[in-house]
Amino acid sequence: MPRKIIVTSALPYANGPIHIGHLVEYLQTDIWVRFHKMCGNQCLYFCADDAHGTPIMISARAAGITPEELIERVHKEHKADFDGFLVEFDNYYSTHSPENKYFSELIFGRLKQAGSIVEKTIEQTYCENCKMFLPDRYIRGTCPRCKAEDQYGDSCDKCGGTHQPTELINPACSTCSTPPVRRESRHYFFKLADYEQQLKELITAGYTQKTTANKLDEWFSTGLKDWDISRDGPYFGFKIPGEEDKFFYVWLDAPIGYMASAKNYCDKNNLDFDKLWNSNEYELYHFVGKDIMYFHALFFPATLIGAGFKTADKLFVHGFLTINGEKMSKSKGTFIKASTYLKYLNPETLRYYYASKLTGGIEDIDLSIEDFTNKINSNLVGKLANLASRSGPMLTKKLDSQLGQLDTAGRELISKLTAAKGQITENYENLNYAAAVRTITALADEANRYVEQNQPWITVKNDLEKTRTTLTAVINAVRILTIYLKPILPEYAEKIEKFLNIDKLSFADVETVLQNRKINNFERLADRIDKSKVIAMIEESKEAQIAAPAATDSVEPIKPQCTIEDFEKIDLRIARVVKAEPVEGADKLLRLQLDLGGVQKQVLAGIACAYKPDELAGKTVVCLANLKPRKMRFGTSEGMILAAGPGGQDIFILSAASGAEPGQRVS
Ligand code: 2FM
Ligand code: ZN
Repeated sequence: MPRKIIVTSALPYANGPIHIGHLVEYLQTDIWVRFHKMCGNQCLYFCADDAHGTPIMISARAAGITPEELIERVHKEHKADFDGFLVEFDNYYSTHSPENKYFSELIFGRLKQAGSIVEKTIEQTYCENCKMFLPDRYIRGTCPRCKAEDQYGDSCDKCGGTHQPTELINPACSTCSTPPVRRESRHYFFKLADYEQQLKELITAGYTQKTTANKLDEWFSTGLKDWDISRDGPYFGFKIPGEEDKFFYVWLDAPIGYMASAKNYCDKNNLDFDKLWNSNEYELYHFVGKDIMYFHALFFPATLIGAGFKTADKLFVHGFLTINGEKMSKSKGTFIKASTYLKYLNPETLRYYYASKLTGGIEDIDLSIEDFTNKINSNLVGKLANLASRSGPMLTKKLDSQLGQLDTAGRELISKLTAAKGQITENYENLNYAAAVRTITALADEANRYVEQNQPWITVKNDLEKTRTTLTAVINAVRILTIYLKPILPEYAEKIEKFLNIDKLSFADVETVLQNRKINNFERLADRIDKSKVIAMIEESKEAQIAAPAATDSVEPIKPQCTIEDFEKIDLRIARVVKAEPVEGADKLLRLQLDLGGVQKQVLAGIACAYKPDELAGKTVVCLANLKPRKMRFGTSEGMILAAGPGGQDIFILSAASGAEPGQRVS
């Protein structure tokens, strides 16, 4: 009986490009899905963009577009990247969808009814200038431990420590630098501890790998806390029913997005969602990285249990990618975007390399550039593709493209290859692709030895039929090895199918033999990797960081339109700089004393990198005179002077024309 299986990969955030770190998971999952499809199982692969949350709202603002426009643009980019790497989803959807809204509200409603939701008023960090509560990542300040400046509200990049935003020294809003305040707000909490028993049973029943289960034990022993599932506006997400300005926290609706993608697929294909998702007819598996294990091993299954939905059969957790033994780094150019990779290299090289490293465990995998080029050149090209390129052209050119029959030695070779099927399929099933690749490579060695022993390039000169017999065995070996590799190398397999003039290969074809038939012309299968291409790809990845800042740190976003009435509120005046002095503790700021024709104002201006204080005294500048005074960490700023330029040393204050008098209006 063929199995019916549903598979998901974690949903990528809709505010940045797919990079080779993300691809570890998508390639791992895609290989598993393709493997099952090749076994004759019905396997459906669902995914979507994770489209909600503060970072997406802020990225969109910075890019001068709406969040809807941003997520639509990123959806297209993600889809192109996945297509480029041959990741074949059955449905790729978005969490910002009517189906996801429906399921999120349904699950929330059912949890509320079950008494699993409580409301509590809590105190949080708030920016009075931006008029929003600040997630930890949007608060910057000095690390309470190592005193490194400009660190996030939750962790320090320098010493690696974690902390509460309230512990930061001199905290400031990362958008506008205003020191945040504490403010109370009412929130919805999910009572996770109510589900402790069911979660423990799930894990005992084998929901996670062993190593993951140990981590979960640790979490159980520290105690399960109530989970805050609401966020105050402004927020990009789904409004909580019955609330004016409260939204579901992105992590509540993100995993529900798996169901939304499945529902959307069912509607498009006339299938019954309840039967597909919520009955035992289909097995269900989630693939995720170890960083989001908590959400998938505790929060998500608990909300599903509480709302009467089934939980997955298993969670497959994988580790991170390191490059040359180190964390991926933007400055070293190892944060390689999927689209950049595709410009330089064949996607199947990465599929093959990752497969050769993935074991099904949660340890990190390392991409060593040296090992990567060696493996592709010596194994994929030198051993596997070479086997076909040694036999194919000889058969077409000298033997009329006609296969003969296997002799005893040929049958022996082929039966060795066939015998490995059980072991290889078991390795795929257990996600131990590294073991499968090792076995396949050893079998390719065996086939290459057979070629060496039978020397078809010599026999072709005087014994064509002996040569045909040899090459028939080699072609059959190529065919079986291709079946074994097909989940990893689908395009490579397609070229072989075309070359051998056969239907789409599946695992059931391992036992059949190709004899006495014509094959087609041979097409090049794989190219050696030229190291200079890898170097150029890394160089481009370095440049990309400098030349094109991500939407999140774009320096010149176009803000939403303003009206002429908005503009008329602005009062620009000529001001004379009476005094300019450095600000202790703030390298970028200067404290300016301005005279606006009798009215004095203190302005803190971020121009210290471009101007020395004594260059400014006596200058007439343009000042925004009616800006609401802003309390900053270093004092109150009562206006703003106008300047232009890309930043740093290149900021140019707008000086007034000669003859302009302080206080004079600028028009
Ligand atoms: O960590 C992340 O990248 C999340 N966007 C993953 C979400 S997976 C699922 F829960 F939606
Ligand atoms: Zn702010």
